Amino acid sequence: MPTILAIESSCDETAAAVIIDGQVRSNIIATQEIHAKYGGVVPEMASRAHMEAIVPVVMEALQAAAVSKQDLDAVAFTQSPGLIGSLLVGATFAKSLSLALQVPLLAVNHMQAHVLAHFIEDPKPAFPFLCLTVSGGHTQLVLVRDYLDMEIVGTTLDDAAGEAFDKTAKMLGLPYPGGPMIDRYAKEGDGGKYPFPIAQIGDLNYSFSGIKTAILNFLQKGKKTNPDFVAHHLPDICASVQHTIIKTLLQKFIRAAEQYGVQNIGIAGGVSANSGLRQAVQALGQERGLAVFIPSFEYCTDNAAMIAITAHYLYEAGRFAGLDAAPSARAPF
Ligand code: KG4
Ligand code: ZN
Repeated sequence: MPTILAIESSCDETAAAVIIDGQVRSNIIATQEIHAKYGGVVPEMASRAHMEAIVPVVMEALQAAAVSKQDLDAVAFTQSPGLIGSLLVGATFAKSLSLALQVPLLAVNHMQAHVLAHFIEDPKPAFPFLCLTVSGGHTQLVLVRDYLDMEIVGTTLDDAAGEAFDKTAKMLGLPYPGGPMIDRYAKEGDGGKYPFPIAQIGDLNYSFSGIKTAILNFLQKGKKTNPDFVAHHLPDICASVQHTIIKTLLQKFIRAAEQYGVQNIGIAGGVSANSGLRQAVQALGQERGLAVFIPSFEYCTDNAAMIAITAHYLYEAGRFAGLDAAPSARAPF
């Protein structure tokens, strides 16, 4: 019955969770509001905000799970990928605590954790399972053979899907993070109104830099004829952009599912909170007779519960980390 404290600090969320024997008992998140006024995450500010939040967030996670530090069997932290200064705060905290309590340390890959968020609650996918992980920094098609045996079979060659959402939102004058705002306006618009191009890239890879340029050109043209173009057509623009991003994501998702003959598919990462994507993936599953898995909303965007479930499987496998486990900004799994 391992009791594990997990810490997530890879970007702009300071989070801690407690998991006991594979059951998440607490999941606390402090979102750093400071970045909104800058239109994106400012790394130096993120590190400082983690420093301020980490102790109260960990204390709250322990309290909510009704465990004390002495009950812990291991301490886990996000090792990579992420902002290096932010990762260092979580890593240093976790290492110090593991040393003080004389319990083992577990180093977790954040992208692997997004995939394993599917195993926090029932129903859980059966293996092999194909997961489309879409976040602010990554777009990955992951073939999952077992909890700790996964392979990236497709990835973006440039921007991530979340970046496409966020950058479009910025061009439209919407606040950061833009994904949820586009999602909201898209509900009132027509996704077929403005057809944007879909990048045709070989294999199972993606590209989202072209759509960004296409939207920029489209907006400049629109504003030339009508300075209030964006204000007048916001729902249709958001719906059309979202429709294009979803269509792009699904093309390769379908191809990969066919190529690897999987019956279980799912989405993960911040962009999987998108209502249009959730609906489209459900529809795809029904159409093709595939079992579809989508984590609860709170486990899609960055959180420590997903770090905790990954730590649980690492613990079970005896894959502990040493105090020399260095955080890394980029690290494939
Ligand atoms: O996984 P995540 O929380 O952090 C990273 O690891 O990057 O993902 C954040 C990304 C942001 O780009 C944000 O705009 C996007 O997820 N996002 C959404 C929605 N909610 C969050 N994108 C589209 N629709 C949403 N509802
Ligand atoms: Zn993430």
